[in-house]
This record gives sequence, structure tokens and C-alpha cells, in this order.
Amino acid sequence: MMRAIMAMAAIAVLTTSALAQQSTDAVAPETAGGGMISGLSAEARAAQDAKAAGRPVSANDWMVSAANPLAVEAGAAVLRDGGSAADAMVAVQAVLGLVEPQSSGLGGGAFLVWYDAATGELTTLDGRETAPLAATPTLFQDEDGEPLGFFDAVVGGLSVGTPGTPALMEEAHRRWGRTNWRALLEPAITLADEGFEVSPRLATSVADDQERLGAFPRTAAYFLPGGEPIAAGSMLQNPAYADTLRAMAEQGAAALYEGPIAEGIVDTVRSADGNPGLLSLEDLALYRVIERPAVCAAYRSLDVCGMGPPSSGALTVGQILGMVDAFDLADLGPDSPESWRIIGDASRLAFADRGRYMADSDFVPMPTEGLVDPDYLSERATLLSGDDALPEVAPGNPGWSHASLWADDQSLELPSTSHISIVDADGNALSMTTTIENGFGSRLMTPGGFLLNNELTDFSFRTHSDGVPIANRVEPGKRPRSSMSPTIVMADGAPVLVIGSPGGSRIIGYVAKTIIAHVDWDMDIQTAIALPHLVNRFGTYDLEEATRATDLGEPLQALGYEVNTRALTSGLQAIAIGEDGLSGGADPRREGIALGE
Ligand code: GLY
Repeated sequence: MMRAIMAMAAIAVLTTSALAQQSTDAVAPETAGGGMISGLSAEARAAQDAKAAGRPVSANDWMVSAANPLAVEAGAAVLRDGGSAADAMVAVQAVLGLVEPQSSGLGGGAFLVWYDAATGELTTLDGRETAPLAATPTLFQDEDGEPLGFFDAVVGGLSVGTPGTPALMEEAHRRWGRTNWRALLEPAITLADEGFEVSPRLATSVADDQERLGAFPRTAAYFLPGGEPIAAGSMLQNPAYADTLRAMAEQGAAALYEGPIAEGIVDTVRSADGNPGLLSLEDLALYRVIERPAVCAAYRSLDVCGMGPPSSGALTVGQILGMVDAFDLADLGPDSPESWRIIGDASRLAFADRGRYMADSDFVPMPTEGLVDPDYLSERATLLSGDDALPEVAPGNPGWSHASLWADDQSLELPSTSHISIVDADGNALSMTTTIENGFGSRLMTPGGFLLNNELTDFSFRTHSDGVPIANRVEPGKRPRSSMSPTIVMADGAPVLVIGSPGGSRIIGYVAKTIIAHVDWDMDIQTAIALPHLVNRFGTYDLEEATRATDLGEPLQALGYEVNTRALTSGLQAIAIGEDGLSGGADPRREGIALGE
């Protein structure tokens, strides 16, 4: 049955769902169709047109879907020349760090899921930022032991963790690359030297964040030249970034972990005006990418696989899907409040477990397997058998060989981040979510022309609750819990969907919804991505503003939910793999495209 669904994904399926009918209504005006960047190839323009029309992009051999057309073109060139998905990722990430600097880059971290067509194996790599060795659990507390205000913690050096993205790029290339490393960085070097066209989304993001960006002279000089925010359509050069990439081309990722660029990172963090941080050269020298077991959850006839701890992504997406598996969502359909009651309460239950149990498992014991055990999830799903919203939601008791008492997490994650999905001509698949955390991260730009993350604010600011320790508290060398959910969905041991999104802790809901829309509601991947969002974490039921999701507000309130209408700016990038080939989608809420041949 799944094969049939995936084959359907290669063509645009006309759906009768009212919710799906206005798939392009959710597009932000400045990014509608993504057609605002000029000088793109005819293929990229065609991909933009397909997205604007709500159609997936089809291909036979390879495909890349990412958040900016210039980055996608760089990846497509690599794949066209016979490069692997890992090669293409290096080119895409290097360009994203230039043209979408607010979301990801060399100063950040990432998680990568790899399907190897030759061996049939899944590998996950953890390139998450780490807390400096000098960090203590009270890092984000004032002298009275009270948590700092969120942006008081974010802006400046205190929030900066040791970056992992450069090391992850190199490690993926070392394992699975076959294109010359230097050649992969060339497109980004050329764009940085010669200038790239500022996209509407970057310009809007800068204009909206002028005060924070203006707090640091190097950041201000780049994004606010002459005191004015960079304008959409203007050309922007970044010679410092080009030099950093040239050093990386010569020396590999080591160029960022030792020597002058590393010294520039440490100096920027430790001398941040008003809010210096703790990062040291030793932290950089010690940084390592970690291979971890993939976390897979059963859903219908599929295995939904992704990144385990320190990400909560695969566990929480897996829990939601594992619980709704007990219900016939296909029969209920996307317009039914009952569908969204089941999805919403499954999500609330999953977020309760996430807040209690999920953190960096190298530092705290975690019931990782118990959390996605089908028997545990079936038992939790019995809580969903009523008619109304659950009046209360509490963490469950997953099977666990270790007895620990944890308090619920208290951390705030705001929308940010970027996602890359790639399938190469050999059938290898790569799903990577990459971030500097908040938009523009810590707002600190290094002399090397890239922004530094504020990933440490993904830790809980409080260490304990009523005397009980919080699993996701700050500890030296620990990796903050993430919501990033780079996912590869498998059918009979082969990939059928490569997907992920930015969006803070709402990433989990965006990815789960899109998988449900594609698998249960038979939507082609572009329609599934564009389907208006309804996201429930642990508070209100968030409905995507200016879409038909708001039609469900009253029925959901009648079931007992508090609803909230707001922008839900996901950035889903996905590739469905079917018997008829590849079918790609890119989120109409942002500027990305899917491109393939
Ligand atoms: N900072 C975004 C995440 O890791 O979930």
C-alpha cells in the first residue's frame, strides 16, 4: 500500500480536503513563489514556479531541496556532476551560511541522517554545539538564582556553544564524499567574493532585528552598513567569509578549530560587550562529531527514523506517530476536528515525556528505547480514546532499566534553523537540519565573516524544580537538547521520504503533520508541506493564521482546547522516493526550492 502511495507522490494528487485547497494562502507576501531572487537558472525558476503553483518537482536520478535557490543550485551542480549527497550537502551548507546567515552556518551545529544505498544502513551524526568546559548549571541565572530573560541570555557571548557544523561537513565528506573537497566550497567562495543578491527574507529579518544586530560593531557593519539594513535585491559581499572558506578548503575543518580563525571565535565570545562568554581554544580543540544509533518508530507499515538524543526530534515525532497509529486518520481526513484532537493530544502527551526525560544521554540516563516502544505507545494511546481534549496531561512511565527522578524541563525555543534534503543518483539519502538557534544566533559575528550560535539557550535555565534536578540543565561539555528532526522514512528497509524543517520546538509538529498528510491523507509532498499547520505542544493549540486552519478554531475550542492564531513559519524541505522516481517539495512559507533531474 505504501508503495502505491509513494508512486502517487510523483504526480500532483488533487485532494478534496478543504484544509488543503488553499495551500498557497499560507505564503508570506515577500516570499510568495520564492521568485524574488534574479539570475537563477531556468531549472531553478521552473522549480519556483512549481512551488508557487503548489506542485511537487519530479526527477528520476537525483534531487536537492533546501531553503535558498542559490544554495540549491550549488548542490544541484555537484549532483549533476556525479557527486554524492554528502558532497552536495557541503556545497549547500557553505552557500546557506552566506545567503541565509540568520539560520545556519559555520558558527552553528547540525544533525545528519544518512541512508547508504550500498549497505542499506542508516547512520546518524551528531554535530551539535557543546557547552564550554567552564560552563556551570547556573550559567543562565542571575545572582539571586533567578533565570535570565531570554534575550538577555541569547545576545552576546554567554550563549555560544562550541560550533559543530564545520566538523560535521568534513566528517560526512570523509565518510561518503567523492568530489574534491575544495571544489565543493568554490561556489560559496565565488558568491562571497563577487557578491550575492540579498533575499527578501534576509532583508526582512535584518530590518526586524536592527537593535540587537546593531549592538556589536562587526555585526552592524555587515548587516546595517551606514546604519541602514541591507535591502532586498542589493548585492552583498563577504570577503572575510570567502577567506574562511579558502582556509577550510586548504586545511579542512581544522581551520576553524585551531589557529587564527579559532582565536577570532574565542576573542569574539570573550570580549562581547556587556555579555562575555566562556568559550575557549581548548573547547574548540576538543570538539568531536559523534555517531549515534538512529532512533526509529513504527508507523503504519513504515519506520520513521531520525536523530536520537541530544535531539528530542525523532523520539517526539516517533511518539506522536506511534500514538496516532491506533486511529484511522485516513478515514477521518484532514478536515475533521477529531483528527486534530487525536494528533493534538498525542503531541501533548509526547511533549510531556520530552520535557521530563529528554536531554543529552551522554550526561543523563534516558529511557530512549522505552519512549518509542510500540507497547508503551499503545498504552499511552488509550488516553486518546475519549471525545474531548484531555483535561490534564502528564509524563508517562516508559520502560527503563534505570530509576531516576527528573523534574520537567523549562527551556524556551524560538523558530529558527534550516533543513537540507538530498537524494543522489546512487540512491543515497541525506537529511540534515542545521542551525545557529535564534535568528542571527548570538548576533556575534567573528572576524571570519560568520555568525556564532546561541545554542546554549536550548538548555533549561533552571537547574531544579522543587529540589528535583532537570535533565536538560547546563553542564560542562554537554550538548543542549534539540527539537531538530531530520527524518528518513523507511518502507521495507528502503527510504521513501526524506524530510525536516526549522521552527524551534514546533519542528516536531511540522514534520509529524507532513508525514501524516502524505501517508494517511494521500497528499503529494508539496501539498502535504503546504497544508496549513495546527500545532499543539504543551499549551495552546496553535492555528496557522490567514489559512483554513482557523476554520477549525471553534470546533477545537468546543472540544476543550485553548486556541491561538499565529504565524507558523515552517521551512519544510522534503523528497518522496517512489517507484516512479523522486518527487520534491519546498515550503511556500520560505524561499527554498526542490531541484532535480
Ligand atoms: N535550536 C533549535 C533546535 O535545536 O531545536
